[in-house]
Order: sequence, then C-alpha cells, then structure tokens
Amino acid sequence: MLPDMGFLKATLGEPLGLDLHFNIADEQACAATLSLAEQKRYQALENTARAKSWLLGRAALKSLRTRLDGRTDIDALSFPNARFSLSHSADVALAVAEPSGCLEGIGVDLEVDTRIQPAAARFFLTEHEQQWLQSQAAERWSHHLLRIWCIKEAVFKANPGNIGRTLADHELDRPADARGEARASTGQKMEYASWCESRTCIALAVCR
Ligand SMILES: CC(C)(COP(=O)(O)OP(=O)(O)OC[C@H]1O[C@@H](n2cnc3c(N)ncnc32)[C@H](O)[C@@H]1OP(=O)(O)O)[C@@H](O)C(=O)NCCC(=O)NCCS
Repeated sequence: MLPDMGFLKATLGEPLGLDLHFNIADEQACAATLSLAEQKRYQALENTARAKSWLLGRAALKSLRTRLDGRTDIDALSFPNARFSLSHSADVALAVAEPSGCLEGIGVDLEVDTRIQPAAARFFLTEHEQQWLQSQAAERWSHHLLRIWCIKEAVFKANPGNIGRTLADHELDRPADARGEARASTGQKMEYASWCESRTCIALAVCR
C-alpha cells in the first residue's frame, strides 16, 4: 500500500522546504472526463498496455490542476515542467505539483514492486555511483539499485534541460543518502528527497 498524501508532503516536500501537493489515482479513470484532444489520444492507445496507466495519469494530473488552478485542461502541459510531474507504476499514478511557480523543474518517480536487474547498473549509474555500489554488501545491491533508479528518474524529470539526456548524465553526490543533491553533466543542480520500503520507492526532485 502507498503512503497517504500527508506522509508524502511531510517526507518529500517539507525536507526540501516546499509545500507540495500530491495526488494518487488508483482506479480506472473515466474516458468521459477527457477533453476532445485527450479522447483522440486515448483512442490511439486503447487496447494497449499503456492505455490504463495513461488514463490514470490524466486523472491524477487533472485533479491536481483543478485544485490548484481551478481548471481541468492539462493538454497544454509539456514535460519537463516547472510545476507538475507525473509517474505511473503498476495500477497507480502519482502526480505532484508546486503551486507557487518558484521552481525551474520538478520531478517525481514511483516504483511499485519493481526489480532492477544488476546488469542494467552500468547503463544508468555513473562511474562514481558504480564504485559506491561495489563497496556495499552484495545482499543490499537490489535495494540500492531500485532506490537509486527511482531517485535518478525523479532527478532526470526535474532537470529542465533533460531532452536528449539519459539517467547516466545525472549523478548523485552521495548515493547512500535518501535526501541530497544531484548534478547533470550539463551543469544543472537538483535536490531530492526519497522514501523506500521493500520494493516500493517514491522520489521527488527539484531544480531551483
Ligand atoms: C521520461 C522517463 C523519465 C519516464 O519514466 P518512466 O519510468 O518510463 O515512466 P513514469 O511513469 O515514471 O513517467 C512517465 C511520465 O513522465 C513524464 N515525462 C515524460 N518525459 C519527460 C521528460 N523528458 N521530463 C520530465 N518528465 C517527463 C510524463 O508526464 C510521463 O507520463 P505521460 O506520458 O502519461 O504524460 C524515462 O522514460 C526516460 O526517458 N528516462 C531517461 C532515459 C534513460 O536514461 N533511460 C534508462 C536507460 S537504462
């Protein structure tokens, strides 16, 4: 089970000094609530594995947009985005918003019951991160791989200059830390906070 919004605010927003709004959509969203443009997009996805998670994502984002801006149009939101971010995993979508517009970028990542294969490490970890992982007890690798994957996905999404970049272009200063700083090879600096329990992880990152 995922933590509630109050927990997410306290664990991910407050450590970064931000009053963030979260929304979790975990039921099949209703196609009737989609705008015309969204209905077209949904029809193109219908019967694909992505259809349900895409709908859940729209539902999670839309209700946050309504709460913060009093409007339901999310068609115009593009990513990376300075106020909104979205992640889907399993049958759940998690959206986050920063209401004041004080950030350059925000990113969230949710991993539910995820396992990252050790062979994937060299594709998303930097040299420094791989060396740190090697120094850890082997029985903790799968935990660290999932945790760092989740943090780096959030960091990547928070980087306003992420187009054409990969996770490996982003490095955590201290891979052991649940909360800390990360840098992109292009110079942007991100801050993050994260929470992990068993094979579920949530990470939030911002670029100021
Ligand atoms: C974009 C990316 C971060 C999405 O992550 P994901 O785990 O596949 O999917 P999530 O459900 O967590 O997030 C998807 C949402 O991220 C958002 N998103 C997409 N591209 C984005 C970007 N460039 N920046 C910020 N947010 C982005 C969208 O809202 C998307 O949902 P939507 O399509 O329903 O609108 C990921 O696919 C990616 O490109 N990573 C970088 C490339 C890389 O290094 N891959 C690993 C190689 S080992």
